[in-house]
Amino acid sequence: MNTPVIGEGNIRVRVPLPDDSSDYTLSSVSVFYNPEMELNRDITVAAISGFIDRTEVEPASISYADVMSASGIRGIRMASELGLKCWLNDWNPDAYELIRENIKLNALEESCTPSHQNANTLMHQEQFDIVDLDPFGSPAPFLDAAARSARRLLCITATDTAPLCGAHLKSGIRKYAAVPLNTEYHREMGARVLLGAAARALARRDKGINVLLTHVTRHYVRVYLEIIRGVQHADSTMEKMGFISHCFHCGFRSWGYGLTPETVSRCPNCGKSLKLAGPLWLGGIQEPDFCGAVLEELETRKPGKCKEAMKIVAFCKDELNIPTFYDHHWLCKKNGVSPGTINDLISALKDAGFMASRTHFSGTGVKTDAGINNINDELTFVSDKYIQ
Ligand SMILES: C[S@@+](CC[C@H](N)C(=O)[O-])C[C@H]1O[C@@H](n2cnc3c(N)ncnc32)[C@H](O)[C@@H]1O
Ligand SMILES: [Zn+2]
Repeated sequence: MNTPVIGEGNIRVRVPLPDDSSDYTLSSVSVFYNPEMELNRDITVAAISGFIDRTEVEPASISYADVMSASGIRGIRMASELGLKCWLNDWNPDAYELIRENIKLNALEESCTPSHQNANTLMHQEQFDIVDLDPFGSPAPFLDAAARSARRLLCITATDTAPLCGAHLKSGIRKYAAVPLNTEYHREMGARVLLGAAARALARRDKGINVLLTHVTRHYVRVYLEIIRGVQHADSTMEKMGFISHCFHCGFRSWGYGLTPETVSRCPNCGKSLKLAGPLWLGGIQEPDFCGAVLEELETRKPGKCKEAMKIVAFCKDELNIPTFYDHHWLCKKNGVSPGTINDLISALKDAGFMASRTHFSGTGVKTDAGINNINDELTFVSDKYIQ
């Protein structure tokens, strides 16, 4: 294996490249390394730094585990840039060797522990203040052990967006015990299905959650869950689970809390049948103050993907806490109007007394508490203004 040294954040690591670099794919090397995930790692450093500030605990006494470390790049950044006590695990023997080498390369032997176990075994044996779950594909098989292991913060990446978002329905149902719908807000639905599964796993351990930051970027979902221990918190977390009813004909949607919601099968707006998604997380998915702290960290640290990271987190900070969004293009097509700008629609909704915002989930997404008929009215109003 050819392992050139690359720089990311303030560290240097050896990463695997195939001997013939012309046929490089993520699976053509024996240890995983994805340069595209630098953005994810940059946000992670800023988010965990923001989280540590609110705990008021010395970083050196906070334990962090990347239970699936591959080259070790993520955990090494946490040790080097934040001063955390890090555990870097991977069951692949080549990865374990590379992790050890990379710890040495950065002279982090004091703060980093390499290990070589099944992640589930490790998480059932050890507890960490912060657990980072970064598997290939679905984190579902690891949620139970992660819920047991994580004391303060659980960070999860999921790259199985097709099952989560409803594109591979049966697979999503099997993995997450939830029914997703492939709506125009499927990216948000995927995040909420994942959050719902994590919330239920944690509740089984008498742990509640406070969702600090959620983003769906490129091909993955990333969530940061603050853990609040105690049965009362676990109970109130479960109260934020629920179902979304969606009408594919007119775009009407509504949601109800609880695991046995009262549902209607006909759309109250157009009379066509409603489809049901869930159980999923209906609580908040962004904490604006936390997002503000992450933005400050990014601004100060200026990591490699700073600009892109700040754009994502700024959108997350400002998006309304409403479980769905509307697609501006879909609305325009449905109403037979030519699209004005999305910001004009948002201003019109606000002028009419509704809340409205953009969303990081989609460049053409609008979050609002207005119902579908009010949105249609405002859209027509905006479009008429353009025609005059
Ligand atoms: C997506 S990579 C991790 C990337 C890394 N966290 C980063 O930021 O670059 C997933 C890793 O999980 C490891 N893995 C998969 N299943 C595992 C398991 N059950 N226990 C431990 N490691 C596992 C694989 O060997 C692979 O290196
Ligand atoms: Zn309808």
